[in-house]
Amino acid sequence: MASLKEELAREIEKRRTFAIISHPDAGKTTLTEKLLLYGGAIHLAGSIKSRKTQRHAVSDWMEIEKQRGISVTSSVLQFDYDGYRINILDTPGHQDFSEDTYRTLMAVDSAVMIIDAAKGVEAQTRKLFRVCRQRGIPIFTFVNKLDRFGKAPLDLMDELENVLGIRSYPMNWPIGTDGTYRGVYDREKNRIELFAEDVTHGQETRVSEVFAMDDPAWKERVGAEVAAALADDIELLRDAGEEFDRAAVDAGELTPMFFGSAMTNFGVQNFLEEYIRLAPTPAPRMSSAGMIEPDDEQFSGFVFKIQANMNPAHRDRLAFIRISSGKFDRNMSVWHAPSGKLIKLAQPQQFLAQDRQIIDTAYPGDIVGLFDPGVFGIGDTLCDPARKFKFEDFPVFPPERFARVAAKDTMKRKQFVKGIEQLTQEGAIQLFEQVGAGLDSYIVGTVGTLQFEVLEYRLKNEYNTEITMQMQPFETARWLAFPDGRTITPADLRGADRGMFVHDRNGNPVLLVSNEWALGWIRENNPDLQLGQVPFDR
Ligand code: G4P
Repeated sequence: MASLKEELAREIEKRRTFAIISHPDAGKTTLTEKLLLYGGAIHLAGSIKSRKTQRHAVSDWMEIEKQRGISVTSSVLQFDYDGYRINILDTPGHQDFSEDTYRTLMAVDSAVMIIDAAKGVEAQTRKLFRVCRQRGIPIFTFVNKLDRFGKAPLDLMDELENVLGIRSYPMNWPIGTDGTYRGVYDREKNRIELFAEDVTHGQETRVSEVFAMDDPAWKERVGAEVAAALADDIELLRDAGEEFDRAAVDAGELTPMFFGSAMTNFGVQNFLEEYIRLAPTPAPRMSSAGMIEPDDEQFSGFVFKIQANMNPAHRDRLAFIRISSGKFDRNMSVWHAPSGKLIKLAQPQQFLAQDRQIIDTAYPGDIVGLFDPGVFGIGDTLCDPARKFKFEDFPVFPPERFARVAAKDTMKRKQFVKGIEQLTQEGAIQLFEQVGAGLDSYIVGTVGTLQFEVLEYRLKNEYNTEITMQMQPFETARWLAFPDGRTITPADLRGADRGMFVHDRNGNPVLLVSNEWALGWIRENNPDLQLGQVPFDR
């Protein structure tokens, strides 16, 4: 029988865990669905997309989230392809949910960046790219919508370099552009792949035909003009393009680039196969006990997402755990770092393309959902009680929008507090209490205004509480401390009259101010005051 070490090595080698980053509408949903189609996890495309409706208006987004309550399958998707196990972590599309997205990016080993061929690099892509860059994870680029009019491939390469500062290496090259897209030239295999006419509107996997470069048949098929343009491009890439450098890809400095059309299935399979070949296996992770390697025999993992009330009928709360090392067994007991308690992991859930189901085992790179009795928080470490440690902290994203929130009906205060605390634990909002203001209202901080609408909606729908909300004129929060550790009261601060003095959930003093200028004034007036973007005890 294979040892645990060998079993782990084998399973880790098979795993690829990634997120798709893109601007809304670039084709994330479509590509995800097509990857599932090629992975055999669904049989007809359309089953996932049909759940998605117009998503631009807030109310529609709410509806989608509500529908998602019945099925979490869009949060984490797992499927097998060619002996590999692929985990795709979904990231919310709307820009105001970037905080949630950032956390999800902490749980992946690589990212797939979708670029709309006509629009190039867009705002949301830039933001998400930056987070991936900071983590130094490999980024794979899929240029989508090649079936339509778009920017020239060489211009898109320039754009990646100039706007994002990343060099690209085209793995394939489109044959025919601007609506005459016929297939791809595979640079590594030096061969042509032409796609058959699409008769199923992308609902089924696409048949393609492969030709050797010197086979005249493909030129006949695409016509002399397109063939000549391709020959020019290949020469240009050979002379002026980047060398393929695996180490630079691994370091996130060079992005392998693919061209295709998710809607019509052009280039999707080529992308999937090359991605599997090049993408990293589950990575080690830094902790208080040093680097934790995935093939370490002792189990460890961390919480990166908490979602409550996904099923309104059951009021369940699920914590999403990314496994970092060792083997996960159903019913195992693990040490929960923040509470210092042993927790038995009953009823662990795994997410398959169409369903969630109870699992028995899982390995590094996999995501497991645990029913959470209210003990887990974002970033918590779970590990084998034989070796206790804590993974390095998750980054905190300082809030930029603030509102005073209270229950409309004071009789409903209990549900109101429960709901507010739940959403705080999920990481959807950050909670502050104004010093001296009493406990009837909270100051809520978020990174985007849409989060307030979600707060209002969820309190109403899940906790039956209507709220009042007054936006506050602040855009910046700073945690406060004096070097000698003495307690801070509003009276200790000079020049802070226009700010608001609050405490965070742990009682740490925080000052909310309107802008950088006000902050400068406070700094000037309180030379020994320390101002931190995150709590000082982290
Ligand atoms: P998102 O999740 O990134 O927001 O994008 P999504 O996949 O929903 O795609 C956004 C729109 O772009 C959809 O059109 C989708 O059909 C279209 N699309 C995706 N991939 C391609 C492609 O390769 N070529 C072309 N031409 N279009 C593509 P929609 O009109 O908003 O929705 P639908 O009516 O098609 O469902």
